[in-house]
Amino acid sequence: SGSGLPLMVQRTLAKQVTLIERIGKGRYGEVWRGSWYADSVAVKIFFSRDEASWRRETEIYSTVLLRHDNILAYVGSDMTSRNSCTQLWLITHFHPLGSLYEHLSRTTLTRHQMMVICLSIVNGLLHLHTDIHGTQGKPAIAHRDIKSKNILVKVNGECCIADLGLAVTRHHVSAGLMHNPRQGTKRYMSPEMLDQTMNLQSFDCYRKCDIYAFGLVLWEVMRRVCPAAEHRPPFYELVGHDPSFEDMRKIVCVEGARPEPPVDSHPTMIGVAAIMRECWHQNASVRLPALRIKKTLLKYAANDNA
Ligand code: ADE
Repeated sequence: SGSGLPLMVQRTLAKQVTLIERIGKGRYGEVWRGSWYADSVAVKIFFSRDEASWRRETEIYSTVLLRHDNILAYVGSDMTSRNSCTQLWLITHFHPLGSLYEHLSRTTLTRHQMMVICLSIVNGLLHLHTDIHGTQGKPAIAHRDIKSKNILVKVNGECCIADLGLAVTRHHVSAGLMHNPRQGTKRYMSPEMLDQTMNLQSFDCYRKCDIYAFGLVLWEVMRRVCPAAEHRPPFYELVGHDPSFEDMRKIVCVEGARPEPPVDSHPTMIGVAAIMRECWHQNASVRLPALRIKKTLLKYAANDNA
């Protein structure tokens, strides 16, 4: 499949894809289920005003070997002109269960299912965040828009991380190549982004923002373990549907609000609740690195026989 191919070759690929049904629509554009011969694929069609996100995602997938079970697999990209309108396609694997957000809205989880979801997300995040040297290597990447809508659920119960439209490599940050006018999702923005004290020149600060957002996702997942509460986006009771930057700054920075961990006395649940508090800590320098989160979750999983 497409990762290293020039766009001229990928054009052939896009012409072989048939769009079948629209499965998502948002500020970014649309996602369709399509077919490529016998395979289902997902086609994300970007609004042309968000060309920067299409470019960045295409650039990252074509310059970095990003094959990992917990990162959405890339098939190819295409740019075509239809009646003077630019069409931007990103073609990836298709996952019939859709996003983690949709999955949590639909179903409750066992503790085991919760652990599989949390461990797989942190595995994907760890792979993104890690510098790997050598010919099969990759630079460290920060995602910058971690949220339950950007995580997909696979039929084996694991998740994969999607949407690299805002992602930055260590190289992008040190070279100042950051020109995407799009911002991350306000609801998941870290306190240092909201009060604008973050050091935008430090790659490590972007990784810490991912960890903050991951802590909120842990909360969303944990809440759906039986006896489960309804799925809610983080801070929904405080800011409702479409919070402004100022709404978020007020509750997260000024009031120091964080979601209420579910009441459950099981050691695994107490352990996961402790991890999420360390992930969403006000002080970014004490947030846990992905490797530490993974090791701690593995320890809880090994001790949980139920
Ligand atoms: N929604 C967004 N991307 C998707 C994908 N690759 N598969 C299924 N649903 C999606």
